[in-house]
Amino acid sequence: MRIGIIGMGNIGSTLARLFVDAGHELAISNSRGPDTLGDVVAELGGRVRATTSEEAARFGDVVVVSVPFGRYRELPTGGMAGKVVIDTNNYYPNRDGNFEELDADRTTSSELLAAHLPGARVVKAFNAMQSQHLRDLSKPAGDRARVGVPISGDDQQAKLTVADLIDQTGFDAVDAGTLAEGGRKHQPGSEVYAADLPSSELHRRVYA
Ligand SMILES: NC(=O)c1ccc[n+]([C@@H]2O[C@H](COP(=O)([O-])OP(=O)(O)OC[C@H]3O[C@@H](n4cnc5c(N)ncnc54)[C@H](OP(=O)(O)O)[C@@H]3O)[C@@H](O)[C@H]2O)c1
Repeated sequence: MRIGIIGMGNIGSTLARLFVDAGHELAISNSRGPDTLGDVVAELGGRVRATTSEEAARFGDVVVVSVPFGRYRELPTGGMAGKVVIDTNNYYPNRDGNFEELDADRTTSSELLAAHLPGARVVKAFNAMQSQHLRDLSKPAGDRARVGVPISGDDQQAKLTVADLIDQTGFDAVDAGTLAEGGRKHQPGSEVYAADLPSSELHRRVYA
């Protein structure tokens, strides 16, 4: 599969490694431009190219957005209509500045991202695990200690695509509902956030 990754920090680069190891072809971008990603491309090996964010969005059948949430409005809006977009972002007012609609719990950060990307099929995923754990806790399918990754979204087919990718990276997806529901159930401060639970226990807590 062709995957675009916008944001190559802790989470974006960890996902890039997992996706390359699973055999996918990547276009990666950051805020400073493709010239700054040469070492990362060399280290990843595989079929990886450094691009602008516009190109990464156009390239991917799936596009990962993994930037500090407060910068989401800088992201290109073109090229993502109809595509599955994985939103790893979390809202931290200290880092991102205050968003009044989030502080008042009128919406979720993923719904704001979805509104910024018309037609994109946004699935929140990989937001609830620390990057080092994402790197280290991958386990083969069927392993009873496999860790669950909560996902949420409004497009069932898009969630199936993301669940399959999560399986390929060595984790079990657990569907936590719509962007509105799930975005609240697995955000920072929620019971399951950074808990690294086996999927059965994660499912139980998400639906408790
Ligand atoms: N760190 C974790 O363990 C963790 C866990 C779960 C979720 N998250 C969430 O996932 C998101 C990414 O976290 P992170 O820790 O990976 O962040 P990070 O290490 O700070 O990296 C952020 C990346 O986003 C890029 N970026 C910033 N603005 C951009 C823009 N306008 N266009 C394109 N790229 C842009 C940065 O590029 P430059 O370096 O060129 O500026 C950098 O590559 C955040 O929302 C975070 O809250 C993080």
